[in-house]
Amino acid sequence: MNSDRVREGSRPTAERAGEGHGTGRAHGKAILLGEHTVVHGTPAIAFPLPALSARGVAHRDRPGVARENLAGQHFRFVAGGIGTQERASSGAHVAVEEALRRWGLAGEVVEVALDCEIPPARGLGSSAACAAAAVRAVADLYDRTIDSDALYEVVQCGEQFAHGRASGVDASTAVANGPIWFRTGAARELAIGLDATLVIADTGVSGATQHAVAAVRRKLETDQRAAKRLLERATDLVESAAADLAAGHAESLGKTLLEFQELLTELGVSTPEIDTLVTAAHDAGAFGAKLTGGGLGGCVLALTDTGDDAARVRAALSRAGAARTWIVPTRGAQP
Ligand code: MEV
Repeated sequence: MNSDRVREGSRPTAERAGEGHGTGRAHGKAILLGEHTVVHGTPAIAFPLPALSARGVAHRDRPGVARENLAGQHFRFVAGGIGTQERASSGAHVAVEEALRRWGLAGEVVEVALDCEIPPARGLGSSAACAAAAVRAVADLYDRTIDSDALYEVVQCGEQFAHGRASGVDASTAVANGPIWFRTGAARELAIGLDATLVIADTGVSGATQHAVAAVRRKLETDQRAAKRLLERATDLVESAAADLAAGHAESLGKTLLEFQELLTELGVSTPEIDTLVTAAHDAGAFGAKLTGGGLGGCVLALTDTGDDAARVRAALSRAGAARTWIVPTRGAQP
């Protein structure tokens, strides 16, 4: 369905764990710009976050047998057996049910344990990463190879379950090897000629992507002329950002990020906490900053120079109330 999708099978990140169980891994993501409007057909640009990952371990179900003691945010589910998604507990569960069905293994019963270091409800792609890690673990368990298109499709089933109408940008980035350009279900690798830093800061407030997506939809539906203007503007900004990323124009890219933040504010998904962090990053010398992901809480992303500038912006974000911060080099975002 998508010949452009970044190629990656399950093998590079699914290390075999030995007889009787399988393992899989996937990473989080940060949308540089294009969130929300991407649901309505504009492009978006997203970066993988290799430092934030989800790991899955899959067993053929053996009730009562002790499992590894997973640390951090973790959860388990049992998939298969009845071959339906009716009792699914999460997007990862739905994705595994779908993968088993596609492999003709719907009668199998599998326990999947997930250990996820990506904070949930922060716009960093935790649900897509958990689904991709879980499916890779099950693929590993049954010695199946799953290419990136098939993995995207089953992860996207989980995303629709978790978030309602999801564009697919989270699922695509969770299975990508580098920054991507995404539009209407198709992803391609993006040329990056910019040596800069993304500083990501957590407002400490949980976002609600499904709620935010529904609110934006209502807003766009109530004023079709404004919707057309906003979506055309969003497309122009994402195209301009791609050109700046390729050419290494940090200042111009920073301005574009600020303009996209204005657009997201007009769409109603910014909050006072987000605005405070955007201003703090800008005042500390960032080229630009904006919310990243669904908004209404979640995270802010700032574009800075490398080295001291990134450290200064990071410190300013912490002083302004960021619960956590992460540093992502624009050129080193390969998992
Ligand atoms: C969520 O990470 C990104 C949104 O654009 C929703 C989507 O694309 O499915 C808000």
